[in-house]
Amino acid sequence: MIGVFDSGLGGLTVLRTLTERFSAVHFVYLADHAHVPYGNRPSEEIVEYTKGCVEDLFVRGAKLVLLGCNTATAVSLRRLQQQWLPKSRWAGTHNVLGIVAPTVEAATQTPWAVTSPQYPQKYNTDTIGVFGTTRTVTSGVYPEEIRKRCPKVTVVQQICSGLAGAIEEKRPEHLLEELVREGIAGLLKETGGMPPHRAILGCTHFPLVEHLFRKHLPPFTRILSQPEVVSDSFEDYLARRTNYLGGEERGKLSLLTTGDPIEVSEKARVFWPGVPSFARA
Ligand code: DGL
Repeated sequence: MIGVFDSGLGGLTVLRTLTERFSAVHFVYLADHAHVPYGNRPSEEIVEYTKGCVEDLFVRGAKLVLLGCNTATAVSLRRLQQQWLPKSRWAGTHNVLGIVAPTVEAATQTPWAVTSPQYPQKYNTDTIGVFGTTRTVTSGVYPEEIRKRCPKVTVVQQICSGLAGAIEEKRPEHLLEELVREGIAGLLKETGGMPPHRAILGCTHFPLVEHLFRKHLPPFTRILSQPEVVSDSFEDYLARRTNYLGGEERGKLSLLTTGDPIEVSEKARVFWPGVPSFARA
């Protein structure tokens, strides 16, 4: 059993691709609707809520949990991996991963393990745009990790503070488009009007409005789609860590929420028609 966590429904974009790739794996998805959105919360709260949800998934039988949320990954993954997990009763048997590493790997074309500039990437002078929540952007994790590998790349970030919430609340398309346009305009101000070569949609809610980013960015801007990028990297990881695979209920999908399962199930179907119903965590 493998756990996938997100503050709300955004992680379903990653989960959906994972279930298509790994049809024999039992996934359990936990959405923290009691506290969504995370994007503007203080770091300490995000760490505590994320830790609580990871533990919940461990207790339910997941030995591996993927944080399918940029905000939770950017703010809490290092602390969970370095300070909490090694001292917990899960040390040595369980693990928690995030989605920033695979995204940085894809954006820089450099394996995560390589943490210094190497030929040919060290000569890369592209511009990479990162769109994310307040917390993801202020954590600075994307520019930091990208520049380690590609120091000449220009990384420009843009906070799209209301977008994840608006997607989650299923606000009308024209309103979502307005928020996306505002985000892009904000980013272009930083680059003097020059669109980025690559755009990281650094929030798992954003693939749901990828068509709007596509519409307002020029064709030469490559949009990095996290569901694909994360699934590719997860495939590699699981090929080397088969101990996390297996279990009795292969191919099963369980969806849990800390919020109201009826309301959440309804919203979820709009994003992923045919998705099973949520149960209360
Ligand atoms: N979907 C989440 C992310 O990837 C966070 C949205 C939120 O809770 O603010 O950042």
